[in-house]
Amino acid sequence: MPNISPEQEDREHYLFLQRSLEDFNKATLRMQNAFSNLELKFEKINRELEYKNAELEKVIEEKEAVRNYLQNILESLATGVIVTDLNGKITILNRCAGLFLGIVPKRAIGGSLAAVFPEMNEADLRPASASPVLSSAEKVIVCGRLIELYAVPLTGKAASEEGMIYILRDVTRITKLEEMEKRTEKFEALSELSANIAHEIRNPLGSIELFASLLMKESREKKSLDRLAQIVSAVKNVDSKITNLLLFTRKQNPLLKRINVHRILKEVLLFSHDIIEKGGISLSVSYAERAPYINGDAEMLKQAFLNILLNALQAMPDGGALKIKTTAVESGIEITFADRGGGIAEENIPKIFNPFFSTRARGSGLGLAVVHTIIDIHEGVVQARNTDKGALFSISLPLIRKKAPGRVNRFRSGLVSQSEQVMMPRNKEQYR
Ligand SMILES: Nc1ncnc2c1ncn2[C@@H]1O[C@H](COP(=O)(O)OP(=O)(O)OP(=O)(O)O)[C@@H](O)[C@H]1O
Ligand SMILES: [Mg+2]
Repeated sequence: MPNISPEQEDREHYLFLQRSLEDFNKATLRMQNAFSNLELKFEKINRELEYKNAELEKVIEEKEAVRNYLQNILESLATGVIVTDLNGKITILNRCAGLFLGIVPKRAIGGSLAAVFPEMNEADLRPASASPVLSSAEKVIVCGRLIELYAVPLTGKAASEEGMIYILRDVTRITKLEEMEKRTEKFEALSELSANIAHEIRNPLGSIELFASLLMKESREKKSLDRLAQIVSAVKNVDSKITNLLLFTRKQNPLLKRINVHRILKEVLLFSHDIIEKGGISLSVSYAERAPYINGDAEMLKQAFLNILLNALQAMPDGGALKIKTTAVESGIEITFADRGGGIAEENIPKIFNPFFSTRARGSGLGLAVVHTIIDIHEGVVQARNTDKGALFSISLPLIRKKAPGRVNRFRSGLVSQSEQVMMPRNKEQYR
């Protein structure tokens, strides 16, 4: 081993330290460079992340806007929509469905479908997978409305069934209008036929009456005179029936004006005050808050109201109660007459508006036919049903639209009932 002097040893140590420091400096520099690179990379990643975040927020906002847009459409639909999952649990129920079913949508969501349709059995509401769609629309009466119900399966991404969509349509008014239309068609055919027959019968009838009267003048024998008097009276009876018939079939032009239905009703009630009182009828009338103005013929409407009122009184010969009510409805104003006369035999309800249908010994059966015609002229709807105490007649009439009140231009035939010869005090010439 060569001998190293202490100075030499110190120098070597110093050199070693110097090299180590240089290495350390180099390593620090490398680290600094690496750190700067890393910083740059982080900055880049950060910028990318911010950009991605902004994009994501934009997508979420757009999705929210679309969701609100669809929700608004769903809520403003005049059709009820209910969506259920596979277990029949309600996931969506729009405002209109709530209105039809008389429920608060928020409370129904999460509940079962069967709970909102208590009238239908569960099997009908959840069709078997073999026939996933209710073959034709089911009709259900809920809250007094006739609802048409369609069911369509809700399919997911892989065409798998995820639940059901139920579409609800309120067909109450359409159904009533269809009934009115059918009756009107029948009436028109009947009116034409009746008018022809009436004319054919009236001519020979006139001759019979004339010759019977001549014979009466010539005859001295009491027995023959009695028989001839019977012939003349029978002929007069038939003639008056034919007069009624001709009045019913004659075409009338309504005198349309802006009228207040409440005023018309009050006039009818004032006019009938005595017969109502003498008949031992307790009358209650409730009027809708707003005066209902319609475009109508006041005299015709009085006649229609009176015919219904008389029928109610005739159904309660020993007294009773009559409730008249006017209510603002979607289609205008509804006037109901509810009596306690025991009602109409169910099998007769479809026939009561037919001309000449009567169950009363002295009834001509024209009262309600006239009502039908008058209401039809006013583009309204008249209906009858039984309550637990008696009959209920409802008339709905369209109100005047704010601008340009449209004229009713469907002139129909037959406007007057000779019901029991009780008529409104009006100029009879109007009917000729
Ligand atoms: N409020 C009522 N309660 C029970 N049945 C009624 C009522 N209103 C009408 N009806 C039934 O409808 C039928 C037809 O009524 P409609 O007014 O057309 O004729 P009518 O009263 O028999 O004769 P008229 O031509 O004299 O009015 C009546 O005979 C009766 O059977
Ligand atoms: Mg009548």
